[in-house]
Amino acid sequence: MASSIRIVGDERLLSYAAGIRAVYASAFAAPPWDEAESMADAYLERLGDDLARPGFVAALVLDGDTVHGFCTAWTTPADFPKDRCHPQVLAALGPQRTRDWLCGAQEIDQLAVHARARGRRLGPALLDAVTAEAADGRSWLLTSIRAETAMDFYQRLGWHQATYPAPRGTGAAVFLGPCHPAAPATAGWGVVRADRPVEDGPARATASRRPQHPVGGERRS
Ligand SMILES: CC(C)(COP(=O)(O)OP(=O)(O)OC[C@H]1O[C@@H](n2cnc3c(N)ncnc32)[C@H](O)[C@@H]1OP(=O)(O)O)[C@@H](O)C(=O)NCCC(=O)NCCS
Repeated sequence: MASSIRIVGDERLLSYAAGIRAVYASAFAAPPWDEAESMADAYLERLGDDLARPGFVAALVLDGDTVHGFCTAWTTPADFPKDRCHPQVLAALGPQRTRDWLCGAQEIDQLAVHARARGRRLGPALLDAVTAEAADGRSWLLTSIRAETAMDFYQRLGWHQATYPAPRGTGAAVFLGPCHPAAPATAGWGVVRADRPVEDGPARATASRRPQHPVGGERRS
């Protein structure tokens, strides 16, 4: 498979709508997401609106016209969002950290690789391509703590977990990107447990510079 990454920040993204829909349906059909096929249609409708968000950027893994994966992001507004899990984030971090760390930063919204293309480092390449668009390194994302593959994936790539919902709960965790200036402040968070010494905690998240995961020639539109 000769894949390449394409960055698209405007309505040209919609020319890949069918491929994005197929990737979304495939990626989020399995546990813990268990999303019905219809959610992929709902996502495509939302994507049309997302294009208008300040700072919107998307990366696609393409093999010819076939989409194997995609990642989207935009700039978190100064007025911190009140939809989805954002209120939990505000409650967990508090208003000051939310403002300093997340507002005006690049928020990764979706990262998905088609099930047939998993394990080929396409996910890391997509994340690299999108976060490279955040010149100040201030990238962040939310994921479900039930998504163990995704949680491990972000930690191995040097993302720093910044909120810790109850273990085995259903909440969402905030991750700060490897180059986020606040990432060092989260070192050691969430590791004080009765059964585990501090130094055994998620010190896996140790990358201090942006990792690179090339997939082939990078094109821009
Ligand atoms: C998380 C995700 C984007 C990773 O993309 P990827 O291109 O497979 O990333 P990698 O190639 O680095 O593989 C990551 C890990 O997935 C697992 N994996 C590997 N091959 C796999 C396969 N065929 N099927 C399922 N998981 C696989 C492995 O744990 C692998 O890590 P390892 O090979 O170092 O042990 C992708 O698994 C995905 O789309 N998942 C569903 C949607 C999702 O959870 N998105 C994130 C929401 S916040």
